[in-house]
Amino acid sequence: MNHDEQVSILKRLLCLREEKRDDKMLDDVVTIPVTKYTDAELFRQELASTFSAFPLVVGNVATLREPGTFVRSDWDDFPYVVVRGADGVLRGFFNQCRHRGAELTAERSGTTKAFVCPFHGWVYGLDGTLKGITRSRDFPGLDTCAHGLVELPVAEAGGLVWIGRTPGTPLDVRSFLGDFYQDLVDFGVESLVQYKKTKVVKNANWKLLIQTYLEGYHVPHLHRHTLSAAFRKGAIAHDESGPHIRLSAARTNVEDVHLKPEDEWQILDYASVYYSFFPNTFFIMHPDYVSINIFYPLSPNQSIWTHEMLYRAEDFVGPAGQAALEKRFVFTNDTVFGDEDFAIAEDIQKNLVRGANTHHTLGLAEGLLAMFQDNIDQRLDRSSTERTLAGDA
Ligand code: FES
Ligand SMILES: [Fe+2]
Repeated sequence: MNHDEQVSILKRLLCLREEKRDDKMLDDVVTIPVTKYTDAELFRQELASTFSAFPLVVGNVATLREPGTFVRSDWDDFPYVVVRGADGVLRGFFNQCRHRGAELTAERSGTTKAFVCPFHGWVYGLDGTLKGITRSRDFPGLDTCAHGLVELPVAEAGGLVWIGRTPGTPLDVRSFLGDFYQDLVDFGVESLVQYKKTKVVKNANWKLLIQTYLEGYHVPHLHRHTLSAAFRKGAIAHDESGPHIRLSAARTNVEDVHLKPEDEWQILDYASVYYSFFPNTFFIMHPDYVSINIFYPLSPNQSIWTHEMLYRAEDFVGPAGQAALEKRFVFTNDTVFGDEDFAIAEDIQKNLVRGANTHHTLGLAEGLLAMFQDNIDQRLDRSSTERTLAGDA
């Protein structure tokens, strides 16, 4: 985010705070049917459309800088491995052997010189080529060139690694991110290092989990003993870029911005900046660390949540630095997200089928939830139109 934009958002936040409100998000109260979070057919369609149509975040580039470093998918529904070749090129492949389809690596990340299939020992280079077949005399005439790993499109953009589900379809992540691409560049996301990445299963629909981030209405209540102090009398400004959303949340100290000349204003000193990268990533720029939260649907009522925490190496040095990071991680991951936001989402998920509500009611400050759902519905509509046209053809 360039300096002019940082100043402009801070000014918006000061006005909103004066008016004791968030940016206007809706004109009227709207509703979301609870079936959006429970319907099995809808869930299948979301996987086939929303999760196939857009680049998905793999994670920060921090763990994929050196030749031979690799990261495996956290989601069995889309089994990929992304690896940095000896030539420095980042590539993605299906994590499946071309002999009989065994998973090539079960490790979530690591460094290797080659992928050796655990079943019968076929060997693949980091560029995906089939380098060796055990007992090759049993495969006379096999075209090894046609049995390299199946490549998937990957891209590096804004310090993040992205992957697409459709082989042969290149990713244009810069266009996909629109205005927010430059934010990631300006915030220096590319130079961060990873502190930790966790993975847990939550008993809630993936959208319900993401939507806990999309409104500040709950903060003084659900987070009254935790986050609330940092955002007291806060306000939220939001912007959109395509299907992506940026929220800038004023922190309690935002009025101190007047103590400095405008050309020294830095938004992260006075606000946290959040991005919903459509469809399944929620990216948080805190003043001194970054959280990448990704949600992978398992069923209508179950999702994998991964949380990768990143920091600037010079800000957290030595054992004291690591201890400070651990404190932040436990507070954010375990207390705020785990025990508060996602515990409520799991409660809501259980209650969806218990009969009190046919729909959820969104107030004016909860408009981003409606916008998020709308982006999914639009994709589903487009897919069903495409299916109909294909059927008619
Ligand atoms: S399935 Fe991989 S070598 Fe047989
Ligand atoms: Fe929250």
